[in-house]
Amino acid sequence: MPDNKVLIIDYGSQVTQLIARRVREAGVYSEVLPSWTTAQEIKSRDPGAIILSGGPASVTDPGAPGLNPTVLELGVPILGICYGLQLLTHHLGGRLARSEDREYGPTQLEITAPSPLWKDLPRFARVWMSHGDKVDMPPPGFTVTATTPNLAVAALACEARRLYGVQFHPEVHHTKIGPGLIRNFLNLAGLKADWNMTSFVKHTLVNLKTKIGNGQVICGLSGGIDSTVTAILLHQAIGKQLHCLFVDNGLLRQGETDEVRKLADHFRLDFTVAAAAKLFLNRLKEVVDPEQKRKIIGRTFIEVFEAEAAQFGQVDFLAQGTLYPDVIESVSPQGPAAVIKSHHNVGGLPDDMNLTLIEPLRDLFKDEVRAVAAELDLPENFIWRQPFPGPGLAIRVIGAVDDERLTILRQADVIVQQELKETGLYRHIWQGFAVLLPLKTVGVMGDGRTYENIVAIRAVESVDAMTADWARLPYDFLATLSRRIINEVQGVNRVVYDISSKPPSTIEWE
Ligand code: XMP
Repeated sequence: MPDNKVLIIDYGSQVTQLIARRVREAGVYSEVLPSWTTAQEIKSRDPGAIILSGGPASVTDPGAPGLNPTVLELGVPILGICYGLQLLTHHLGGRLARSEDREYGPTQLEITAPSPLWKDLPRFARVWMSHGDKVDMPPPGFTVTATTPNLAVAALACEARRLYGVQFHPEVHHTKIGPGLIRNFLNLAGLKADWNMTSFVKHTLVNLKTKIGNGQVICGLSGGIDSTVTAILLHQAIGKQLHCLFVDNGLLRQGETDEVRKLADHFRLDFTVAAAAKLFLNRLKEVVDPEQKRKIIGRTFIEVFEAEAAQFGQVDFLAQGTLYPDVIESVSPQGPAAVIKSHHNVGGLPDDMNLTLIEPLRDLFKDEVRAVAAELDLPENFIWRQPFPGPGLAIRVIGAVDDERLTILRQADVIVQQELKETGLYRHIWQGFAVLLPLKTVGVMGDGRTYENIVAIRAVESVDAMTADWARLPYDFLATLSRRIINEVQGVNRVVYDISSKPPSTIEWE
């Protein structure tokens, strides 16, 4: 019996991760592997089915990522999507041609021949296309199973070998029949829907116990959902062998240390706070360059972490809240899935501490981590906490960071957070926060002239932080923020709203 999982071979499409998500949403575990994974490696993983992703290359280009034909002999059902379909066509004796125009966007699919892949799907459906090449002649033994107004071959199948190809993208949101198609593919491969967060927690606890044995584990707890879930899972698996370390770098939001301490107490974690604010602020004195700030903070963090860890005696493991998107992205910076986001995990740490890494969440997407958090009874407000960068408020006080400017920013930020939560907007946006600018402008308050700071409000919508659009927050809401910040925060006489998207801007200002 093959393993109940799907391997997805990544040919560089920007939406390969979505394929993995759709498969998991259908209840089957899936993994993404780079296109140069050897056939032997694929075989040794014993997948129940394989999906070949889309990609930007042309199959016949010199140096285009290929497919070892022995993979086609594994007897495992294969679904090729876009580039994947073209690979199947190319390797199995069909013919490809350049489309006259690159086709991009929605189009009408017509199913023209029955197939288990189409079970219960309508004959006509809107699907999303993005391709430059097309199938000119299907390989021998294949039937054309769907067309579009522009494409004679929009899908093909060799039922006897359970090989399927679709030119459109079933994984994207705009293809409404996508989830049904993926489910059909998993069904015809005989895969069971047994992947859910309850089973994940159960398996993870057993695995952690086995891996760690009597060892001691240290975990950098930041209060973000990833490190918190990591810590609680570990605590449930190994109890007192886990030591959580929280580094107070002086760059945190108001009340943050207390909040995290409360949570740690609630879950009875062994929790230590390293109070290092002075050290961080001293080193940041007069530093203006954003990259330099980040480097100083990263280095100091490691230093403090190492020094504090010494108090726990012999430690064998370092636990981190690495997630699956980080794992996929760090497979190869040069690989076909062009890295868009640089990986900012400040936790990516002590190399020379000689610790074995434990990353219980490395197979999960963010929404799956949230589901695990709910499973572990984490409070709602933690589950839905917005991301907060490792370098903290230092990259939101633009220019030099000092106590006074941090205090101004903290006060403005509390107002933004309070109002976002009270109006319920907090859950609808990816992030919302305040930024303190290194500029003063003139204002008038009461009868007097003022010459004070500007606070910028940044709020974005995003699904994964790789791209983001500025949030269209209601004017009345912005008016409240502006009024409250100028009235309540001493030293601020102007508030502006950031209307830039990512790209070309980034979410953080530094
Ligand atoms: P940017 O500014 O690159 O941010 O568009 C994308 C997302 O990453 C967060 N971010 C960080 N997170 N350490 C982190 O842990 C960092 O150094 C860091 N820099 C940015 C940012 O808040 C946003 O969610």
